[in-house]
Amino acid sequence: QSLKKYNTFGIEAFATEFCEVNSPNELAEVLKENQNKKLFILGGGSNMLLTQNIDALVLHINNKGIEVVKEDDNYVWVKGNAGEVWHEFVMHCIQNNYGGIENLSLIPGNVGATPIQNIGAYGVEIKDTFVSCDAMNIQTQEITTFDKEACQFGYRESVFKGELKNQYVILSVVFKLSKNNHKLNTSYGAIDTELEKMGIENPTIQDVSKAVIAIRESKLPNPKELGNSGSFFKNPIVPIEIYEKAKANYPEMPHYPVSETQVKVPAGWLIEQAGFKGKRFGDAGIHTKQALVLVNYGKATGSEIWAVAQNVQNTVKEKFGIEIEAEVNVI
Ligand code: EPU
Repeated sequence: QSLKKYNTFGIEAFATEFCEVNSPNELAEVLKENQNKKLFILGGGSNMLLTQNIDALVLHINNKGIEVVKEDDNYVWVKGNAGEVWHEFVMHCIQNNYGGIENLSLIPGNVGATPIQNIGAYGVEIKDTFVSCDAMNIQTQEITTFDKEACQFGYRESVFKGELKNQYVILSVVFKLSKNNHKLNTSYGAIDTELEKMGIENPTIQDVSKAVIAIRESKLPNPKELGNSGSFFKNPIVPIEIYEKAKANYPEMPHYPVSETQVKVPAGWLIEQAGFKGKRFGDAGIHTKQALVLVNYGKATGSEIWAVAQNVQNTVKEKFGIEIEAEVNVI
């Protein structure tokens, strides 16, 4: 089975076996029947780089459904099944005037993947509205509910990327969203400016979503037109000493405080300064409008893109003494 249409980088790679599962019961059965096989769990395929064929049974998690599971005067608890496309889930909430995830409009991928790396954009992360997720243990097929604390969320991190890596399949996620008095988050980056451009003074969640979509469309390539996985690298969190050292040579280096001892530096800035923005190596390249995004111009292989990524990492390390780590899963 070709995985080309199952990964947003649009890379041609093959799975030894492939199976789509549409419900928790179906998943339990498939897991039981294939106890001794190597498994590979695939959601929306928007956060991985395939550098080789997958010698495993690939399970494509595709259970759909959105439902309100609880409600009071001010809040609504909305459950999305893992196979729902994240942006469609966001749009559903926005149409119903449920607030809290409008800043996360247009992020590629499925609902089930959102807790794994605590997706975030424009000052909001899913941990801010996350209540719990149900996940199936691959070995025992038991279903456990993980609350926010159990998920151990951090910047693009969770227990599902750490301690419990490859042990659970996420089945559904519950978010607590506002029904009125929405708390808008427009201070980050260009949202305010974009709203001004749109001529909006008292924005609604619908307006914020539109502004985010406009900003994303202006910077980030649409995977349907140009293969990519969003930010390829994480923004590095570095000890102040290392930042100070780099800053001595590059006084204009942007940074955001993280703690008393650490700062976050935008990897996009480092990569652009290292001269990579818009560069192309065969069919693999660095996006022209956002240096944090690697792109596939057509026929690049995963290894070619990975080679470009390593070149970027090494050059940034040499120039600034700062290591940048991949955000996507390199397989
Ligand atoms: N910058 C450059 N050149 C570039 C890109 C960025 O100099 O080519 C610098 C600028 O100084 C800019 C700063 O980096 O002010 C921040 O850029 P931007 O606001 O575009 O955000 P980012 O830090 O590059 C992060 C997330 C994105 C998310 C945006 C907006 C990570 C790894 N990435 O990018 O998430 O959409 O913030 O909140 O944290 C994703 O994870 O796939 C993703 C797209």
